[in-house]
Amino acid sequence: MSNKRKILIQLDSDLHPSVFDRVVAIDAGTEELFSYGGVKPEHVPSLVHGAIFTRSPKDLKHTAIFIGGSDVAAGEALLEEVRKTIIPHYGLQVSIMLDSNGANTTAAAAVRAASRHLDLGATKALVLGGTGPVGQRVARLLARQGASVRIGSRSVERAASVCQKIRQVLPNAKVEAVGITSSADAPKTLEGRELVIAAGAAGAVLLPSKARQAGKELKLAIDLNAVPPVGIEGVDVMDRAAVRDGLLCYGALGVGETKMKIHRAAISLLFESNSTILDVDEIYDLALQF
Ligand SMILES: NC(=O)c1ccc[n+]([C@@H]2O[C@H](COP(=O)([O-])OP(=O)(O)OC[C@H]3O[C@@H](n4cnc5c(N)ncnc54)[C@H](OP(=O)(O)O)[C@@H]3O)[C@@H](O)[C@H]2O)c1
Repeated sequence: MSNKRKILIQLDSDLHPSVFDRVVAIDAGTEELFSYGGVKPEHVPSLVHGAIFTRSPKDLKHTAIFIGGSDVAAGEALLEEVRKTIIPHYGLQVSIMLDSNGANTTAAAAVRAASRHLDLGATKALVLGGTGPVGQRVARLLARQGASVRIGSRSVERAASVCQKIRQVLPNAKVEAVGITSSADAPKTLEGRELVIAAGAAGAVLLPSKARQAGKELKLAIDLNAVPPVGIEGVDVMDRAAVRDGLLCYGALGVGETKMKIHRAAISLLFESNSTILDVDEIYDLALQF
């Protein structure tokens, strides 16, 4: 039995490493937390070398890297650089998790909530705010389960570029772009949709009550915006499978409980081997236990 302490190295693209991520790291069993803020790709090699050249390969499972920060694209660039720097060929690697802005764990929790009520492989879904980091991941996870996914944006071009991005990783994805400029677009946008997940910006109403009524086939509504006013009017932030006007509803805090469980479980998993890489798909797979 090794008595090495569990060290989590937090690489955060923001100036101040996220307090939220630090608290979760400790609650998930991290014994030593090394937090670095303002991390850019050019800083990564020396930080990763410090992680992989200090303990023997058999002990490297006690060291792991967490990548966070509010800018998801910046986090993705850090992950790419970390992957380039580790040396798996000699076992000189540590497990890595990406969860910038909570995007992976939030998207996984939302899709997990939907999977409790619908057969995702046969579901027709609408993702509002589908161009943001969370919405893109929600759409990708739904498409990976075989759902038909309509991706909504105020710009149909932006939504189409998300569809293209998803098809690059999932060539058979059933995704389509839809532009939404006003409530008048609701009937055609919601037509045939059983599931709506709103991942719009904090405080933006994406689906007013009146527009929602156009969704005659809707069974489940999940809203990820916790900042009033909520994204889907009529859904309460605390809702967790609450039934409102015959519609099953989840609010942001209702989903948040599962998100926290997923986040903690993911951190714990990092310390089980030195070769786990947790990005959106792996984090969703982990979510299935909750
Ligand atoms: N519970 C949690 O732990 C947690 C963690 C992360 C995020 N969240 C929440 O999840 C949601 C999505 O997060 P995110 O970071 O992906 O959001 P985001 O990037 O700020 O916004 C997502 C999309 O919303 C659309 N949008 C922006 N302003 C709008 C407006 N005024 N009206 C209509 N649409 C607007 C934009 O799409 P278009 O410009 O293409 O229309 C944007 O791409 C947010 O509400 C966030 O607070 C929760």
